[in-house]
Amino acid sequence: MKEIIVPPDKSISHRAILIGSLCNKPIRIKNPLKAGDTLSTISCLSNLGIKIGENNNEIIVYGKSWKKPEAPLYCGNSGTTMRLLSGILAGLPFETILTGDDSLSKRPMKRIREPLSMMGAKFVGDYPPITIEGGDLKAISYKMPISSAQVKSSILLAGLSAKGKTTITEPLLSRDHTEKMLEFLCVPIKRDGFTISLDGPYEIEGGLQIETPGDFSSGSFFIAAALILNMEIKIKNIGVNKTRTGFLDCLKKMGVGFAIENERNICNEPVGDIIISPGRLSGIEVSSDIIPMMIDEVPILSVLALFADGKTIIKGAGELRAKETDRIKAMVCELSKLGAKIEELDDGIIIDGGYPLKGTKVYSYKDHRIAMALSVLSLNVSGIEIEGKEWADISFPNFYEILSSIR
Ligand code: S3P
Repeated sequence: MKEIIVPPDKSISHRAILIGSLCNKPIRIKNPLKAGDTLSTISCLSNLGIKIGENNNEIIVYGKSWKKPEAPLYCGNSGTTMRLLSGILAGLPFETILTGDDSLSKRPMKRIREPLSMMGAKFVGDYPPITIEGGDLKAISYKMPISSAQVKSSILLAGLSAKGKTTITEPLLSRDHTEKMLEFLCVPIKRDGFTISLDGPYEIEGGLQIETPGDFSSGSFFIAAALILNMEIKIKNIGVNKTRTGFLDCLKKMGVGFAIENERNICNEPVGDIIISPGRLSGIEVSSDIIPMMIDEVPILSVLALFADGKTIIKGAGELRAKETDRIKAMVCELSKLGAKIEELDDGIIIDGGYPLKGTKVYSYKDHRIAMALSVLSLNVSGIEIEGKEWADISFPNFYEILSSIR
């Protein structure tokens, strides 16, 4: 059986670096993701006066030492950097401008402007560049109109410097890494269904090590690759937090056999080894309530659905239109070029599996997950040429190396 290791979790790495900047004592991050997006977070924090060092496979964030930045901060392609950092900046008494690349400049920030302004931050801009002047925050009780871990985390991080109880309710549960990491760092968080609350202001002591497991979203490309190539695969030391593994629930419905071995808890996050056994795939209906738990896996699920018997119907995934690119449009357009029977819905995709595909030139839209999904498809369909495939680097620097090792 082929064994692989995927890069460290992007969401957890961002959070460890950002939360480290709020601590009284240094946070050591073991095995952090060093890729486009997390490097954007490090660069923004450095320009905000935070001391960040490296030692072997560790990043050390030396805790609070804020200064007003001399120039606008560039968040690159990273929505997580901009939205989570905004939550921190909302509590800091100076003005900061945040900018991003062409893709990030088209992504909605009103979703964080509204709650952070309610808390008392001066926040200008519904799309980047945005300007935030923070200061005395008051706690709010906020019902989120959409499920988004980035929005939830932004409010939670602002809540750490707000006076009183900050309460957030999501329509459906999104990834809970921020809550888990704050709990690991001894911040008292209350959870009740889809509602979370914390009492502020709260100073985090820090002085701990946070270890980062493999990224489930990165692993999903190799789970799909193994299924397409009809081979067994083991992905070792990968995060299996239930708020991330909706893709596994879909695979189960499709008839895929898998096991999670060696399950353990690392820094309050469930981690294990995933073993995938190949088999025949059936088309499924993906229920909208698990979409937030597999939001980044919809492109690769669409690829897999091409190899399933019957139709796969994905609905309730309208948030995909607000990612690095409109991922619904991108997948429908590029898979159609290859001859797929695929239909675009307002909030999803219908894919009819089992039809022959023919390789041609396709485009990544400068989106890492589209680039990787199309690359996995090229394992089975010859003649696919991907323009902009190098965008995989944003979250998975050695993607193509591992992909060619399993061929
Ligand atoms: C992320 C949350 C998700 C996801 C993104 C990373 C995070 O975005 O798509 O890749 O680290 O919080 P939303 O929270 O906006 O859905």
